[in-house]
Amino acid sequence: MTIFKGKKLSPRLYYLRPMEEKDIPYVGAIERQSFSNPWPESSFLGEIENESISFPFVIVYKPQEKVIGYLIYWKIGDEAQISNVAVHPDWRGRGIGERVIREILELMKKQGVRYVVLEVRPSNQVARSLYHKLGFEVIGVRKGYYKNPPENALIMGKILQDK
Ligand SMILES: CC(C)(COP(=O)(O)OP(=O)(O)OC[C@H]1O[C@@H](n2cnc3c(N)ncnc32)[C@H](O)[C@@H]1OP(=O)(O)O)[C@@H](O)C(=O)NCCC(=O)NCCS
Repeated sequence: MTIFKGKKLSPRLYYLRPMEEKDIPYVGAIERQSFSNPWPESSFLGEIENESISFPFVIVYKPQEKVIGYLIYWKIGDEAQISNVAVHPDWRGRGIGERVIREILELMKKQGVRYVVLEVRPSNQVARSLYHKLGFEVIGVRKGYYKNPPENALIMGKILQDK
């Protein structure tokens, strides 16, 4: 499948901020357009409330203050897991996903994270290519992890910093 890749969007035109309850309808809509097995909107509220381990962010397009994507990670001790990330279909292929993940990895470093993991469908070539570009490597497989359609999950990991 060919997916459109456009001109890079200037990073001055968008920013990351913590997700708030008012963002959930927009985040939920992007989630349903992005995944065949989407999280229910209640899960995003749960992430916002789970302040001790969850760090949910939205990507905002500045000129319209519009939510165009989101990223959630969990931090437990010195390990982090990117648990969900998506960019609205109309805004993909313009450098946004790569830039926000780089920014989040820097934030994690400041928080003392040493190791980051995530799960991805083997068929998700775009996401795999992005994670590979960011230095993630396949470290394992979770058999039958995904439903609708059923698929294993690849576990990818990246060392952010040594002790
Ligand atoms: C995965 C996702 C977040 C990437 O965000 P994005 O803003 O579209 O990605 P970027 O434009 O920053 O592209 C960064 C890299 O991703 C890969 N990529 C992006 N679009 C691609 C395409 N159409 N074909 C192949 N690779 C692509 C490339 O490696 C690209 O680097 P390059 O520009 O040097 O080629 C986005 O495509 C998305 O929301 N997908 C649906 C949800 C999803 O799959 N989330 C991840 C679940 S694990």
